[in-house]
Amino acid sequence: MAERNKLRVVPDPNSLFQVAAEEFAAQVGSTLKSSDRFTVALSGGSTPKGLFSLLATNYRDRLPWNEIFFFWGDERHVPPDNSESNYRVAHETLLSKVPVPATNVFRVPAENPDASHAAQEYERTLREFFHTTAGTLPQFDLILLGMGPDGHTASLFPGTSSLQEKTKLVVATWVEKFKTYRITFTAPLINQAKTVMFLVSGADKSSALKEVLEGQQSAELFPSKLIKPIKGRLIWLVDEAAAASLSRKGA
Ligand code: 6PG
Repeated sequence: MAERNKLRVVPDPNSLFQVAAEEFAAQVGSTLKSSDRFTVALSGGSTPKGLFSLLATNYRDRLPWNEIFFFWGDERHVPPDNSESNYRVAHETLLSKVPVPATNVFRVPAENPDASHAAQEYERTLREFFHTTAGTLPQFDLILLGMGPDGHTASLFPGTSSLQEKTKLVVATWVEKFKTYRITFTAPLINQAKTVMFLVSGADKSSALKEVLEGQQSAELFPSKLIKPIKGRLIWLVDEAAAASLSRKGA
């Protein structure tokens, strides 16, 4: 792995959340030494719930919540109170439990009946927040990602047109297997981040993880392979069950 990239294998999900929380806190601390804000895009699905809960408890009094700004790397095409909503998961497990100002939280407007309009609106939000014009990409301090058993990440699913997007920051993408739209960061936006951290847990991810880290299949089939930060760090934080098929267990 390149110097900037790191694979860390930990025994189990609880240690995954502990290491991720420590890494999150360390990044906040180091960023705020030279900046007045820390920008993070949260991942969805179930894996990050353990991290969110830990941040809301053991780290509640250790983080400067008013200087942390929350976004989402992807969202389901549902209203924020829907049980499928990534925003709702983060709100229930973290954001409602810590003193983060509501003005620091930028959820995807996924209640918009037109998913493309939601994506366009979110892109506008990002450009306004980061003061970037067309042609330049906002740079998040941290983008958290998960990975599905099919090798997707964010809502960049195999065989979808979102994988080829080179200029937009956020797109709506039809996901045939779920018969629904998703709204997602594009690979160019993710790859602009200072740090991208994957959290991967569970045996059901082991074959995809081996392919993504060691295999020769295309990124079209395993979209997590698209994630190669241009200048930033790439951290793969995985538990032993997910790492079971890897031929090397970490740098
Ligand atoms: C989502 C996610 C997605 C997720 C992976 C892993 O909206 O579902 O952003 O990319 O990170 O599917 O999900 P689990 O953590 O639930 O296995």
